Amino acid sequence: MKKLGVAVVGTGFWGKNHARVYKELESTELVAICDRDAERAKTIAAQFGVKAYTDSSWMLKNEDVEAVSVCTWSTSLAKEALKALNAGKHVLVEKPMATSTKQAQKLVLTAKENGLHFTVGFLMRFIPGLQHIREAVVSKKRLGDLVCATAKRVSQWPERIGDVGVVKDTAIHDIDVMRFVFGEDPIAVYAKAGCMRHRTFEDYALIMLTFADGKSSFIESNWLTPYKTRTLTVTGSDAIMRLDYVTQELWIEAAMENVQPKFPWQEPLKAELQHFADCIVKKEKPLVTGEDGLKALRIALAALKSSAIDRAIKL
Ligand SMILES: NC(=O)c1ccc[n+]([C@@H]2O[C@H](COP(=O)([O-])OP(=O)(O)OC[C@H]3O[C@@H](n4cnc5c(N)ncnc54)[C@H](O)[C@@H]3O)[C@@H](O)[C@H]2O)c1
Repeated sequence: MKKLGVAVVGTGFWGKNHARVYKELESTELVAICDRDAERAKTIAAQFGVKAYTDSSWMLKNEDVEAVSVCTWSTSLAKEALKALNAGKHVLVEKPMATSTKQAQKLVLTAKENGLHFTVGFLMRFIPGLQHIREAVVSKKRLGDLVCATAKRVSQWPERIGDVGVVKDTAIHDIDVMRFVFGEDPIAVYAKAGCMRHRTFEDYALIMLTFADGKSSFIESNWLTPYKTRTLTVTGSDAIMRLDYVTQELWIEAAMENVQPKFPWQEPLKAELQHFADCIVKKEKPLVTGEDGLKALRIALAALKSSAIDRAIKL
């Protein structure tokens, strides 16, 4: 079977992982990479034996490139994703997808008008334990009725991230997770964010999302904690489910029994990019749609506004 021709724009810390995974997958062929840093582009291209570009406009003329991962700085994601969509390429754009909802809407619309596959890099959805939690919420098996959920995603500031704060960079993962787990959109957000070490952007945020029927969720994110914690706890009427995203361990704890379902560890990025390629070939709807990206960005922006005006915002 013919492999899907793919390329990566932005091959820094994260984009080079996209390039590696595309090289490892059997169904994709990494054709080219692009980074505006010429030295980096040359090094990564040589590592994977593909053509290097420093301007994506040239790379996108290559007809062998059918799909593109956009992994540039957060503030240039939308511009690069739009270029790729306008060049007729299927696109996976990294989170936060865009800096404004207007830009994000334009991407969703352009993909639709051009009949292209479009998805956003919400990696957590590809962790088996999270999928198990979502299934338990739907079936109510073991968990009972969903009541609330809390997420914690804290670590030191990755100093290379200099163009957005912790809400758009980090908490946005959990905003998407909450929409996924609850299977609905929050109706209001209240947040407190601030900067302790970062000069320009917030480096800590506490975000509360409320859902219809009194359900709620709480997200703690910061770049101030000296170690990395990434967890989700979902409380139901019959049990709680705890997921550690790093080890991918899941615990289900009830009054009478505790169980720990085992899932073979899998690299989330590999599952995500395999899904991206499969959906393009089979013309199927992705697990994460452009609309999901747009909605998560809208909530992240509302959280920042809520913090600034010190009031809850209805969504
Ligand atoms: N989904 C996830 O779990 C996850 C994890 C890490 C990073 N990310 C996202 O990936 C993106 C990149 O993050 P990173 O940590 O790799 O940053 P980085 O700074 O290490 O890399 C960004 C690279 O993009 C290049 N670049 C910037 N603008 C460009 C352009 N217009 N054309 C070509 N190259 C360009 C830079 O030269 C740099 O090499 C960010 O949007 C980040 O939010 C997502």
